[in-house]
Amino acid sequence: MIPFYIETYGCQMNVSDSEVVARLLSDNGYQPCNRPEEAGVILVNTCSVRDSAEKRVIARLDQFARMKRKDPSLKVAVLGCMATRLKEELLAHPAVDWVVGPDSYRLLPGLLDASQAAPLQVKLSKTETYADIKPYRCLTPGITAFVTIMRGCDNMCAYCIVPYVRGRERSRDPLSIEEEIRDLVAAGYREVTLLGQNVNSYLWKPEDGSTPVNFAMLLDRVAGISPLLRVRYTTSHPKDMQDDVLHTMAAHPNICNHIHLPVQSGSNDILKKMNRGYTREQYLERIASIRRILPGCGISTDIIAGFCSETEEDHLQTLSLMEAVRFDQAFMFRYSQRPNTLAARHYRDDVPEAEKIARLNRIIDLQNRLSLESNRADVRKVFEVLVEGVSKRSDEDFFGRTQTNKVCVFPRGNSTVGDYVRIKVKSCSAATLKGEIINKTNRI
Ligand code: SAH
Ligand code: SF4
Ligand code: F3S
Repeated sequence: MIPFYIETYGCQMNVSDSEVVARLLSDNGYQPCNRPEEAGVILVNTCSVRDSAEKRVIARLDQFARMKRKDPSLKVAVLGCMATRLKEELLAHPAVDWVVGPDSYRLLPGLLDASQAAPLQVKLSKTETYADIKPYRCLTPGITAFVTIMRGCDNMCAYCIVPYVRGRERSRDPLSIEEEIRDLVAAGYREVTLLGQNVNSYLWKPEDGSTPVNFAMLLDRVAGISPLLRVRYTTSHPKDMQDDVLHTMAAHPNICNHIHLPVQSGSNDILKKMNRGYTREQYLERIASIRRILPGCGISTDIIAGFCSETEEDHLQTLSLMEAVRFDQAFMFRYSQRPNTLAARHYRDDVPEAEKIARLNRIIDLQNRLSLESNRADVRKVFEVLVEGVSKRSDEDFFGRTQTNKVCVFPRGNSTVGDYVRIKVKSCSAATLKGEIINKTNRI
């Protein structure tokens, strides 16, 4: 058995993909290890979404190149989104032996044992979903797991590299999704997060011509697998998020009351240039529907500061939208131009770096206040929390999340990992709730 070490960058889809790769390798004479120093093969699963993400990976590859000089038998494969984007350029890096894109992982065992020659495998597929491969849950052991339900993206948001590096959108057979989740429940898992770049456009068309399965239907089927299994999903797209999904969430107590709905900007001019397919008003209308159909639902978002031609007025519109929605959480970025995207081809990246940073900082400051206010409003309330593990800060505490996706820390009491507990919130910061167990329920 040859030890392999896999390092994962980027989004949850990459975490899920790394677990597919770990299965393919562990079925073919390799075994996972926890440190690159112990490995015969290092795999780096990469992200291209921002320039900073790519720079981090290149710095890591430089380190692996130094390791290889000491141990020439060490082999390195670059996987993921940078593989598709940079191709030969990556193969020329002194650390790199293979460059394998997101739709070519089935080739890995053959490539690693040298029975297959060409070290560059980056062709994208219109059909590959790895539906039949059971992920080796080495990155998400025990309680919560990711389940990829679709791959690729057809949306062409102007700033975004994902459609170019991940290829066309395709949905995975719902039967294989349900089977995977039933296995997870049998193995003791208590939470799954269904993954796709735009889950709202999930659509499975059966070959026999029977009724197609859309996302609301899939969600309904997954939620029905076990009342003890929490279901989450990400990412929703405001232009495709319909009320049917909200009603399905309302009908199932085990579908978590949380929606990640990236807005990107609060300005209609910028949303249009971004090719997002909705206006500020339409976004706010979606939020109103969520609040009406799912009272108390947690709402999080993604925001980009300093997209092409963004003015101070546009930026103020983003701040005012944040205030209007009162997001519970947000991931916030400054715009990073990606080669060959619509924006790179058609617009000038004309907001000065210092201005991007200043705007991003204002967005972060505002969100810190909104997150703190949102958490303060939860103090003295009671929430169902799934116990996920030991708190980083103290061995005496456990952590878990509320359905609304807030991290909650509390003294262990008589609970164990995997329990459902009711927690009364006693205090908070902008990032965490602190509470105490009222009782163990072990039901949702
Ligand atoms: N499919 C998801 C996530 C895409 S990537 C979606 O549609 O929202 C995650 C986030 O990265 C995006 O929501 C966006 O906020 C950010 N992002 C994508 N491209 C970017 C770029 N070129 N510069 C800065 N942030 C970017
Ligand atoms: Fe990128 Fe837009 Fe697709 Fe999300 S929906 S992955 S932001 S192109
Ligand atoms: Fe994910 Fe980054 Fe690729 S965000 S899809 S790993 S470009």
